[in-house]
Amino acid sequence: MKDLFVKDTPSHVGNKIELLGWVETKRDHKKIIFLDIRDRTGIVQIVGDTRLADVSTEDVVKITGMVKKRPERLINPKMVTGEIEIEMTDVEIISKATPLPIPIDTDGYEIDEEVRLKYRYLDIRRARMTRNLILRSQVTMFIRNFLSKRSFIEVETPILTKTTPEGARDFLVPSRLKKGQFYALPQSPQQYKQLLMVAGIERYFQITRCFRDEDPRKDRAYGEFTQLDLEMSFVTQEDIISLTEELFSSMVKELFPEKTISKTPWPRLSHAEVMKKYGTDKPDLRINKNDPNELAFSWTIDFPLFTKQSTDDFYHGSGKATFAPSHHMFTAPHPDDVDLLNTDPMNVRGQQHDLILNGFEVGGGSIRIHDSAIQTKIFELIGFSKEQQTQFSHMLEAFSYGVPPHGGIAPGIDRLLMALLGEPSVREVIAFPASSGGKIAVMDAPSKAADEQLEELGIQTSNVDN
Ligand code: AMO
Repeated sequence: MKDLFVKDTPSHVGNKIELLGWVETKRDHKKIIFLDIRDRTGIVQIVGDTRLADVSTEDVVKITGMVKKRPERLINPKMVTGEIEIEMTDVEIISKATPLPIPIDTDGYEIDEEVRLKYRYLDIRRARMTRNLILRSQVTMFIRNFLSKRSFIEVETPILTKTTPEGARDFLVPSRLKKGQFYALPQSPQQYKQLLMVAGIERYFQITRCFRDEDPRKDRAYGEFTQLDLEMSFVTQEDIISLTEELFSSMVKELFPEKTISKTPWPRLSHAEVMKKYGTDKPDLRINKNDPNELAFSWTIDFPLFTKQSTDDFYHGSGKATFAPSHHMFTAPHPDDVDLLNTDPMNVRGQQHDLILNGFEVGGGSIRIHDSAIQTKIFELIGFSKEQQTQFSHMLEAFSYGVPPHGGIAPGIDRLLMALLGEPSVREVIAFPASSGGKIAVMDAPSKAADEQLEELGIQTSNVDN
């Protein structure tokens, strides 16, 4: 295993070292040849000789040499390793590189995205993309430590499961053992996390993949994305809001010290108020929108429990209903408004909380219904047929065995990072995202299945796209 990263070379002045990495640049002055060697942590200058004549950029090399302090006038303050250089004693070319199909020494925004995604493994070599992935790892590590210290446990839930309606189209996976039947990939672990509360887990989280077949946008990944899913028992909305605020405030302080949060505590605005004042439920509350280091977090609360249902809504059950859940059908009504469920459903407020950052909805959650009678009432109001209701009968049954009041939230990791880093799209913070056409980066997926596979699954296809 390599034991020396580029960023650590300055602490080896006077030592002979071995360095493994890629050739970022080569400057050939005939007798003296300079290289910049790159690894994940930065670049460092090598002073070599004609033995470097055959080396070209992006070759993988092993350089042996002495770490030397640079003369005062040659110090480069812009580089982490700018105070030193490595005087080469030996070089080994481990792997030659042909010229790359895309440049990687720019920020990459100027390159056609389809081409970047095709060569994502090269695209990630660029400093900006490497930094984004490192920060992403630091963010999830921070979250895990923060929540573990507060008695949360991370529990994994199934990927092959049953429809979990969050309002998008499901991805289906055919079952071989039960021909003609399908698993659905979870749009979120919503039902499982509620079942974990019935199970007595009390404080659950999971950094988990969610699957939704919906049109991509700059803030919406196609196919799959990642949530920090969390749920707690015996909590109020206030508890969820303050825990989330503490989590992300301390994370920004530690991992993004250059950023400032516009206002603390984060403003909490009612849905009615934001709609009236800003015409959107996710207002951009930055004081100076040109400042890349300003973070304006806010909460939108007191959403109406229902919106008017449209005919293409998932929830369009019996065809008679006019109500669709604003968040999802497990969101509890405001305790003061429960009676209105019978008389004036559109005026019932839901105990929903959306987390907003710089104009993006970076999280959503709610206090849940834990009373089977109210849950059944909601199913009726959204027009679920008896058959649709049976799809969720496990929830009602679970609630009959002693259920703690519970609630939670699910910040979207991709969207949160996009907003934090000021990136123009969620794809800039995902290693191998799908392109807008649903094609998966590098691997040419989706692709056709072999006839034998289809036969085994009892599936025939028609209307096949090329
Ligand atoms: P919701 O559907 O609001 O809630 O999703 C929560 C958060 O997930 C992020 N998100 C996405 N990010 C990238 N690409 C997408 N396609 C995408 N879709 C959603 C957003 C959003 O705020 N089960 C509930 C949470 C709960 O009630 O606890 C849920 O999934 O940042």
